[in-house]
Amino acid sequence: MSEHVAFVLGTRPEIIKLAPVIHACSDAMLPYTIVHTGQHYSESLDSVFFEQLDLPDPAYNLGVGSGSHGKQTGEMLIRIEETLEEIDPDTVLVQGDTNSVLAGAIATSKTDIDLGHVEAGLRSFDRRMPEETNRVVADHVSEHLFAPTAQSERQLRREGIEAERITVTGNTVVDAVYRNRELAREKSTVLSTLGLDGRAFVLMTAHRAENVDDEARFRSILRGVDRAARERDVEVVYPIHPRAAKRLDDFGIDVPDRIRTIEPREYLDFLRLEAEADLIVTDSGGVQEEACILGVPCVTMRDNTERPETIEVGANRLCGADPEAIVRIVDEMWDVTSDWENPFGDGDASERILETLGVSVERGVA
Ligand code: UD1
Ligand code: UDP
Repeated sequence: MSEHVAFVLGTRPEIIKLAPVIHACSDAMLPYTIVHTGQHYSESLDSVFFEQLDLPDPAYNLGVGSGSHGKQTGEMLIRIEETLEEIDPDTVLVQGDTNSVLAGAIATSKTDIDLGHVEAGLRSFDRRMPEETNRVVADHVSEHLFAPTAQSERQLRREGIEAERITVTGNTVVDAVYRNRELAREKSTVLSTLGLDGRAFVLMTAHRAENVDDEARFRSILRGVDRAARERDVEVVYPIHPRAAKRLDDFGIDVPDRIRTIEPREYLDFLRLEAEADLIVTDSGGVQEEACILGVPCVTMRDNTERPETIEVGANRLCGADPEAIVRIVDEMWDVTSDWENPFGDGDASERILETLGVSVERGVA
């Protein structure tokens, strides 16, 4: 049994998706330590989520910050190794596919500490994406692979990973959404703040390196979303990730009128926007899942997705970055009936993860 868990995390989606596991540790009175790599450090991507999700401050913040892949990952590796020597946990948990995950996984795999990868077995089959390398490496060096769906489990088995190492748990994003969607409805005033009460709107996010670091592709996405919104006569609200904001600046892009860029939102506001949007256009992994869970049609501005379940249940379509494809697929998804089944589990993924580590827990989310 694991008697002490260390969470190595570093970015917004990891904080959100590990929060329910951290709360499950508290509920089970299992000692844990949060190690933050510092990959995300802006308040709007970082501390705001610790506050709103009721998480303790990280015991360690390694302060690595931004940088090239090698520099960022390398510095994390050095500092995570030193920190794990100090904490000496039984298990390290990492979540997802960021550089923080890669560094946490490699550092742990060279010790006698067990490594668990939450959200294992996702594949875009596109090795040009840094996230794909991160996922594949994290999976192959982990003792415990927490696959969100049977499909991700099958992928891991195809890659030769032994069945004993894999547990299908559901995705902890469901735990997070179930815990917070009512709170969002009660507490968030984002709709009135943004003047969206009772109005049709599209929620947009785009931050992936392959989309926003490529000027032509970023311009093409903005053009397509603007045209789609004009055809429907609606506004688009785009909480903009700092990577994308920086690229708009670097490239001197004027965002079309129909797209209102706003600061990234805290989680309850964002959940409320997702739940009330008529449609979501995104390139985010977590947002594709949340749209599917919340019953809101999603159009994904990528050429592939490591969340094929969302497409199979009819909740999501890929449109790439071509303006005509964006307009056409938004149109096709607009009136879709959102009666699909959520493929990502029942909201008890966190408890299943701890059970696999030998911790006895009570089921049932708040
Ligand atoms: C990272 C992940 C990506 C994930 C995203 C979640 C990798 C390779 N990429 O992308 O998979 O979807 O997090 O949001 O790990 N910046 C700030 N403030 C911050 C952090 C970053 O302004 O707190 C800006 C900096 O200009 C930085 C840029 O954003 O250079 C990119 O940050 P980085 O951490 O390299 O990648 P993300 O785009 O955030
Ligand atoms: N999110 C948020 N505020 C925002 C945009 C996103 O709280 O302004 C949340 C969203 O609900 C989801 C997560 O951030 O849980 C997704 O993170 P992101 O898109 O940065 O990363 P990805 O999932 O693509 O790795």
